[in-house]
Amino acid sequence: MMKALRAVFAATTALCAASAANATDLEVTHWWTSGGEAAAVAEFAKAFNATGNNWVDGAIAGSGGTARPIIISRITGGDPMGATQFNHGRQAEELVEAGLMLDLTDIAEEGKWRDIVRPTSLLDSCTVDGRIYCVPVNIHSQQWLWLNNSVFENAGVAVPTNWDEFTAASGKLQESGIVPLAMGQQPWQTTLAFQVILTALAGPEAYTKIFGDQDAELAAGPETAKVFEAAAAAREMAKGSNVQNWNDATTMVITGKAGGQIMGDWAQGEFQVADQVAGEDYTCLPGLGVNEVIMTGGDAFYFPKVDDPETTKAQLELAKVMMSPETQVAFNLKKGSLPVRGDVDLAAANDCMRKGLDILAKGNIIQSPDQLMSADSLTQVNDLFVEFFNNPDMSAEDAQALFVSIVGNAD
Ligand code: GAL
Repeated sequence: MMKALRAVFAATTALCAASAANATDLEVTHWWTSGGEAAAVAEFAKAFNATGNNWVDGAIAGSGGTARPIIISRITGGDPMGATQFNHGRQAEELVEAGLMLDLTDIAEEGKWRDIVRPTSLLDSCTVDGRIYCVPVNIHSQQWLWLNNSVFENAGVAVPTNWDEFTAASGKLQESGIVPLAMGQQPWQTTLAFQVILTALAGPEAYTKIFGDQDAELAAGPETAKVFEAAAAAREMAKGSNVQNWNDATTMVITGKAGGQIMGDWAQGEFQVADQVAGEDYTCLPGLGVNEVIMTGGDAFYFPKVDDPETTKAQLELAKVMMSPETQVAFNLKKGSLPVRGDVDLAAANDCMRKGLDILAKGNIIQSPDQLMSADSLTQVNDLFVEFFNNPDMSAEDAQALFVSIVGNAD
């Protein structure tokens, strides 16, 4: 009996040693540091560690605007991580063209990604010269207004169902010392607010023509002038919102210090961590309750090439794990985003995710600015709107004129 037990123990130890020996540490960089984001990324780590490898977390605080330059300089500087987050679109374009990223085409074909990923534009954003260089992990739409129901009820007004009702209610909120519109100061947040207002009030076509076709004439037109007027009203409603990070602004809504926030559906992760229920504690209005569209923004993971077969093997393993049905559901439910695969069961999705899924199913989708415009041009747009939202002396007309010149010279 003892002899048999010793044999089993020896075998197990050998197995552990073998699997530990085969385990590869893989450093994964990303900018998911808020409560909801951390809960979601932990699902990736858990699934990857279950393969016998080790997820070495390389979270970088400060959101993408801070993280991406650090990530890019490490890769171009010869100190690559094992895997890294970028947004869907053109952010890693130059790194791929420089031959610095691992080609995932074989596992993508083996996994039939082109059949299961929807919309296929997500995979197109990973494809350069017919080869696939990233695994898309979610669909995040920026086109949302999040509202704290009790703030409006306590102010004696109905919870708004669209932008006009929201702006009409803002006076009542300000009277009771509540900031109508929470907004963080990171530059991308002000651009996000502007392009969501543009898409809602001028329409999804106008947004795509301006950000995608760089239509400066349309950007200079009367319809866009109305959007800049609405952005000036948003600036007024955001007065007193002195927080930096997007999730701090979401917390203002969650805690009733603010009535609403224009933010991507990653905000959902924060409501979940705060145990708030969609439809009861908070309301989500896709397209500001005016133009219900889903933006196919979000995240994809890239794998810098390294000269080590074990690491390459672990990189491919992680890419497969991120696309697996179970991981897609576990991650996206916590992240507040929609899965990239259409063949998964989202019975546990809440009201807001259901709204998103319905809009996606109807095909009312637009591409994200990261998919439509180069990172350099978007940085100029960010600089303009962070200036506009922080300088009440900048008129809507002046801001529109500057926007027209940026759009006219964008690529
Ligand atoms: C975006 C990213 C989201 C979200 C957000 C805020 O770039 O796609 O997943 O986390 O940043 O950090």
